[in-house]
Amino acid sequence: MSLFEINNVGKSFGDLKVLHDISVKVEEGEVVAIIGPSGSGKSTLLRCATMLETMDSGSLIYLGEKAAQNDAQGRTVYASPAELRRIKGYFGLVFQNFNLFPHFSVLRNLTEAPVHVQKRDRKEVEKEALELLAKIGLSGKENYYPQQLSGGQQQRVAIARALAMKPKMLFFDEPTSALDPELTGEILKVIRQLAAIKMTMVIVTHEMGFARDVADRVIFMDGGYIIEEGDPHDVISNPREGRTKQFLARFSDQGMDID
Ligand SMILES: Nc1ncnc2c1ncn2[C@@H]1O[C@H](COP(=O)(O)OP(=O)(O)OP(=O)(O)O)[C@@H](O)[C@H]1O
Ligand SMILES: [Mg+2]
Repeated sequence: MSLFEINNVGKSFGDLKVLHDISVKVEEGEVVAIIGPSGSGKSTLLRCATMLETMDSGSLIYLGEKAAQNDAQGRTVYASPAELRRIKGYFGLVFQNFNLFPHFSVLRNLTEAPVHVQKRDRKEVEKEALELLAKIGLSGKENYYPQQLSGGQQQRVAIARALAMKPKMLFFDEPTSALDPELTGEILKVIRQLAAIKMTMVIVTHEMGFARDVADRVIFMDGGYIIEEGDPHDVISNPREGRTKQFLARFSDQGMDID
């Protein structure tokens, strides 16, 4: 059984079809990187997977539990709100722009949902939150407010906040693209650490070298289709498809370091 499955997703915004029959399965402990040009549908796919966006067609399954499936007409029907609430507890999400609660301290950013949504014991949650902060190199920052931290520190707090919910898997949408290059490294390091402890992750990224080193599998999307997927060394260093080659060539043209 896969930890996560999204099958045959179709999604349009008005007349614009942005996802064409996309299917992705992720096994426990697997790290999948999604790459592709701007507008190719990467964020929309992640938003459908995490139910921030509804699919027009297709099914969505976490740990064998159906969050959404097709009806007889091939249109997506979602499970009940109570079931969706439970299934949403299986994953965490980290965006480009951190999305921390600005008026809460770092500690409260981490403890708010475990205490109020998961109804867990505050003392225990606070203890775990402090341990998480130590792991990401932010011991002593628990009483700071987000705006008192650097972008890289805020993004590490956002990752810790997702982990505080004890998810089975994490989705990242360009977690480093709002950061300066030197801060990007801090975040990539945390994600590498999570990969080392076999956290299941789906990461949309423009960091090709990182995708190649950390991912077990890379998916290249263009125009709402999966064009190519497979071993990162094949897809990134030795792509088969013309569109993948073209996309990757643009990175090397810009002098971006693929190594
Ligand atoms: N809420 C929306 N309403 C209308 N169109 C949308 C909406 N969200 C996304 N789109 C369109 O869907 C297409 C795919 O967008 P998406 O954000 O998924 O691309 P992306 O691959 O994440 O791009 P980027 O690399 O720039 O983040 C784009 O043409 C975009 O304009
Ligand atoms: Mg995007």
